[in-house]
Amino acid sequence: MAEPRHRYSTVSLLLHWVIALAVLAQVLLITAHEATEGVQAREFVNLHKSLGLTILVLTLARIGWRMANPALPLPVGLPRWQRWAARAVHVLFYVVLLAMPLTGWLASSASGREIIWFGLFDWPLLPISGGRPVAGQLMDVHEAVMKLLYVLIAVHVLAALKHQFVNRDNVLRRMIPIIPRRP
Ligand code: HEM
Ligand code: HEM
Repeated sequence: MAEPRHRYSTVSLLLHWVIALAVLAQVLLITAHEATEGVQAREFVNLHKSLGLTILVLTLARIGWRMANPALPLPVGLPRWQRWAARAVHVLFYVVLLAMPLTGWLASSASGREIIWFGLFDWPLLPISGGRPVAGQLMDVHEAVMKLLYVLIAVHVLAALKHQFVNRDNVLRRMIPIIPRRP
């Protein structure tokens, strides 16, 4: 029996796609921030911070959910290196989805910049000092981790497409259940 379960739970699907879309929105918000000035530019950064912290909370929830609901087994016969690569990319995704918001949050905290979550309430700052120099170093890490995230997304999407169009198995369908099932 190759696939005892055919797709992820609705909660896993929702968390996967909401977080993926939020990451895309994060890049668009920073692009909009860089293309504007003054009040508007600040508003885009505030949205970026609020959404980034939301991704942190969602990722923590997702890791908790994942620990309680293990992943589906990969198709039988998949080479060992590909199982290993899939696992490595997934683990690194979780590390990066925590590291991005944490470095941003730490940087805002070091420079004493308040964060008002979607204009609704004060998000607490972390106990870290150092002012702008430390904030600058943390932003360098923020940027470097983002490069790793781009690589992970590229490998992940190419692997998903390979499953769909080369292996012609049901792996992509597990995350996009509207795709017709293959025998
Ligand atoms: C998963 C969550 C996040 C993602 C994917 C993300 C992504 C990015 C990216 C791509 C940049 C542009 C880097 C560059 O200069 O090339 C950036 C900049 C920045 N991020 Fe984030 N970020 C996240 C969370 C956060 C959080 C939670 C905060 C703060 C609380 C934050 C604060 C900032 C700031 C202040 C900048 C620099 C804006 C400027 O150019 O002035 N980020 N982020
Ligand atoms: C920022 C974008 C994305 C992130 C952060 C992300 C993250 C992840 C993570 C962490 C997993 C592993 C779930 C687990 O713990 O078992 C996963 C699984 C998966 N993702 Fe993504 N993903 C993204 C975008 C995409 C896209 C665009 C596609 C489709 C083209 C996709 C297709 C899949 C599939 C098919 C699986 C299931 C793999 C399996 O069953 O073993 N993902 N994703």
